[in-house]
Formats: sequence, structure tokens, C-alpha cells
Amino acid sequence: MRTKAEAYKRTEQQAWDSFSRRYTKIALPEFQPYGDRLVQMASLRRGMWVLDVATGPGEPALTAARRVGLRGLVLGIDFSPAMLRTAASRARQSGIRNVQFRHMDAEHLKLPGMMFERVFCRFGLMLMPNAQKALRETYRVLVPGGRVAVAVWSAQSKVNTLGIVREVLVRHRAFTPPPGAPDFFRFGKAGAIERALKTAGFRDIQSRRMTIEWVFADANNFWNSMKQGPSLKRSLVGLSPALRRTIKEEVARRLERFRRGNALRIPNEAVLAVGRKR
Ligand SMILES: C[S@@+](CC[C@H](N)C(=O)[O-])C[C@H]1O[C@@H](n2cnc3c(N)ncnc32)[C@H](O)[C@@H]1O
Repeated sequence: MRTKAEAYKRTEQQAWDSFSRRYTKIALPEFQPYGDRLVQMASLRRGMWVLDVATGPGEPALTAARRVGLRGLVLGIDFSPAMLRTAASRARQSGIRNVQFRHMDAEHLKLPGMMFERVFCRFGLMLMPNAQKALRETYRVLVPGGRVAVAVWSAQSKVNTLGIVREVLVRHRAFTPPPGAPDFFRFGKAGAIERALKTAGFRDIQSRRMTIEWVFADANNFWNSMKQGPSLKRSLVGLSPALRRTIKEEVARRLERFRRGNALRIPNEAVLAVGRKR
């Protein structure tokens, strides 16, 4: 029999499969600055071997591959086959040859120990029901002295795009995460990601918070974009048209405080952290 966590992961994998195209178009450009900062914090150098866990459409794997050059090597892993196909095609289109992508669950890496000098995980860890296990796996595959660099969402009140939608859904009892789903804002609490890294064995942990504004023409544009995502899409299934409208209007009202001139500029905070294997 499947555990709740396994059933959740299966649902998640399917959701990311069907969202991969939209994700690449909508989210990837928004996330690039977080990835650039993460790569900087990891002190990536030419010739290094790098693992990118939950790489999605290949980030920060492709950014890292450019940095480490042809003497280096990057492996991106993900459990969504559609995401991996997109990642491989982006690598081909960019002419990047020192990167490979493989299907794998981050909580069970099918890789020998002490293989990589750097491991990245950008916006993946908070989706994993056993994130601590994924961090232990990361620790195992790093060489001594190697570093991990992760980006996770901050607290719900600081991640305004996802946070406001969640708040309104909860208020209308319409928030329906799949059974076994972890809270993906949990690493936003003060000290949470640092504690998780320390528990996995990492030392010399450094973290910083980084806010980026996502810009939308208007609330309609925002709503259409958010409802492509797995979380809102799932919650809207089965709601009456009237309740959908109420939720959409309430979200729009709450977004007004981010209006700057002709656009909505919505701030989202992430926590970036690095740690070293002894
Ligand atoms: C928000 S996307 C992040 C993708 C990319 N790293 C980025 O920053 O744009 C989350 C990714 O995590 C993957 N993922 C979630 N849980 C996973 C797991 N247990 N093992 C492997 N991949 C996982 C999903 O398939 C999805 O591609």
C-alpha cells in the first residue's frame, strides 16, 4: 500500500508534468535572479562537478554549466519526465554540452557518494515531504569540503503572489492541498532552513533573504497566470462559478496595495542558504 507521502509525490509529479511548459515560460525568467545569487553564494569555479536537485526545466543547472566550463560537469535530476525533456531541449538549444539530465527522486538519489563539489536545489526542497532525507542525500553525494546551496520560499506573508491566493482560498475553505502535502512555506520561519541544514550535517551555514518583484499588468493577468499553477488549479476544481468569482475578486482587492502606476509590482521573498560538508 502506498503511504500518504508516496501518493502525494505521485500527484505532484503529474502536476509538474502538466505545468512544465507554462512554468518554463512564466516562472523561469522570474526566478533567474534568485539562481544567479545562489550560484554566487556557492562560489562556483571552473572545472567543478555539480548536481542540481529538482532542476525542473534545467535551472540553475544550465547557469552552473556555463560557469564550470567544459572541464566541469553538471547533472540535473528531477522526478518529472516532462520537466527533464524541457531541460534537455533547452541545453541543446543553447549549445551547452557539459550537462546531463536524469530521472530521479531527490529523497533517493541513485548516485554514488562523494561525487560532487557543489549541489544546488532551487525551489524544490519545500515541496518534498521528507526534505530532511533529501538534505541527507545531498550531504552523502558531496565530497568533503563540498557545498550545498538551496533556495526556498520565505513565510506565507512574505511571498505575496502565492501567499495572498492561499490566504483567500483558506478564508473560503477552498484550499485543498493533496493528502500528505507539506507546507511549502515552512522554511520561511526564522532559522528553519539553517536548522535543517545543520541537522543534515552541514557546517559554516550562511543565509540571506532576497525579495524580487513580479510585475503583472493587472489583477486579471495575475489570476490567469496563477491559475495555471498546480496549487490554485487544484483548489479551483469543483468550486461553483460564483465562489470562483468571489475568490478572484477578493484576491484582486488585496493586490491593489501593490499597484505602482500602470502595473502591479508584487514582492516575493526567498531564503537562500549555503552549507559546507565537513
Ligand atoms: C518550483 S520547480 C523548481 C524548478 C527549478 N529548480 C527552478 O528553480 O526553476 C520544482 C521542481 O521540483 C521537482 N520535484 C519536486 N519534488 C521532487 C522530488 N522529490 N524529487 C525530484 N524532483 C522533485 C518538480 O518536478 C519540479 O520540477
